[in-house]
Amino acid sequence: MTEPAPPLRVLLVDDDEPIRRAQRRAIARDGYEIHDASSGEAARALLAAARAERRPFVLMVVDLQMSGISGTTTIEAALEIDPDLQIVVCTGSDCQIDEFHTSDALLIIKKPFQAIELLQAVRALTTKYQMTQRVRANMHELERTVEARTRELRTVNDELAKEMARRDRIETELRLAHRLEAVGHLASGVAHEINTPIQYVGDNVQFLGEATRDMFEVIDTLGAAIATSASPTLLALFEELAARVDLGYLRDEVQRACESAQHGTLRIARIVGALKELSHPGGKDPQPTDLNRTLEKALEVSASSYRYVADVVSDLGPLPPVVCHAHELGQVFLNLIVNAAHAMENPEHVRGRLAITSKVEGTDVVFSIADSGAGIPEAIRDRIFDPFFTTKEVGRGTGQGLAIVRAIVERHGGSLTLESALGVGTTFHVRLPIAGAVRRSTATATAAA
Ligand SMILES: Nc1ncnc2c1ncn2[C@@H]1O[C@H](COP(=O)(O)OP(=O)(O)O)[C@@H](O)[C@H]1O
Ligand SMILES: [Mg+2]
Repeated sequence: MTEPAPPLRVLLVDDDEPIRRAQRRAIARDGYEIHDASSGEAARALLAAARAERRPFVLMVVDLQMSGISGTTTIEAALEIDPDLQIVVCTGSDCQIDEFHTSDALLIIKKPFQAIELLQAVRALTTKYQMTQRVRANMHELERTVEARTRELRTVNDELAKEMARRDRIETELRLAHRLEAVGHLASGVAHEINTPIQYVGDNVQFLGEATRDMFEVIDTLGAAIATSASPTLLALFEELAARVDLGYLRDEVQRACESAQHGTLRIARIVGALKELSHPGGKDPQPTDLNRTLEKALEVSASSYRYVADVVSDLGPLPPVVCHAHELGQVFLNLIVNAAHAMENPEHVRGRLAITSKVEGTDVVFSIADSGAGIPEAIRDRIFDPFFTTKEVGRGTGQGLAIVRAIVERHGGSLTLESALGVGTTFHVRLPIAGAVRRSTATATAAA
């Protein structure tokens, strides 16, 4: 329950005691708490005390002609103490009225006045005071409500922004996953298509090598026979023919050409095999995988990117099978290797060093891919994982590499960290749980329970 409001305080200021009494009688019926002061000084003290008490006077009735400090000075002092104070000024002279005509806190009544005139003036001003107070309280309340609503809105807005960011991220990951799958299918298809022709090219080159070896044997035997035969014409013809085609040179070079072609086809076959293995979309479930092998395949298919700019030093420790999507991790290694190779290209053609390591750490395996390249400037370090962020020229970089890497590693319950120093190089660390993403989370759940 709210307490009844205390009566409004009214102060009567006049140096004439009977007048104050008459004024008190005139307004008494409205239930004010009436105080009186016989001088401006006394009025000032009462006003200040009431204000300090936090029960200020609402209204002051003041006479302009007083002994001691004048009514005008009293009014000025009173408004200084309490700017909200309402004032009824009683005056006998017109010239003094002009001094106050601009203030709306003042009502002037001219002597002699009726009791009812004073009562009406007091009522009008106290009502105005109360209404002003009420409006002020309402304004306060309104401001508080607006503030609270603004806060709520801000919170909702923040949540909305977070949700939108989350959706954006999921959408990007989904797009990347689709893209990865499509690229994987494409690569796997291309590898499959190349596989058959490269096989018969290889077989035929091998056949040609063997056949020419046999043919040279025939030619050499024939040449020897002709040399020992008694026919100088035949020998001259043979020697002329042999000189025309440079038979000795052909014998060496055809063999070498066949060997080199065979070498080449073997190499193509190996790369295609690695590509097939890496891009194989695999089943839906992660499988125990020899990730060192996956890494070696990735090195194999990306050899053209680093062969001319760096030497590879790899130190792969023995690893247990890691539960993962092998082709996705092949993509991770590929992207990191290609980035490292790009970072080591320089106009002075200083050869770089690509150091690759793998090891077991607790329940994780950790791969490090370190280059001696340009390094990543601090200013862009938190943007390099953004999809489409690239510092490379059009056609060289798509800006998707690291976004894909991070999405894959996180999907596997792992983490991706990097160290980089300008002019020294960059190392990316890929940490993956040996048991795979799903099993690890149940393990943590059990541990927490
Ligand atoms: N090993 C690295 N050394 C220096 N900068 C790198 C390295 N790897 C990535 N970056 C920087 O990160 C950017 C984004 O890489 P990435 O997402 O793979 O896209 P892209 O290679 O297509 O530019 C690169 O453009 C490059 O500026
Ligand atoms: Mg890249």
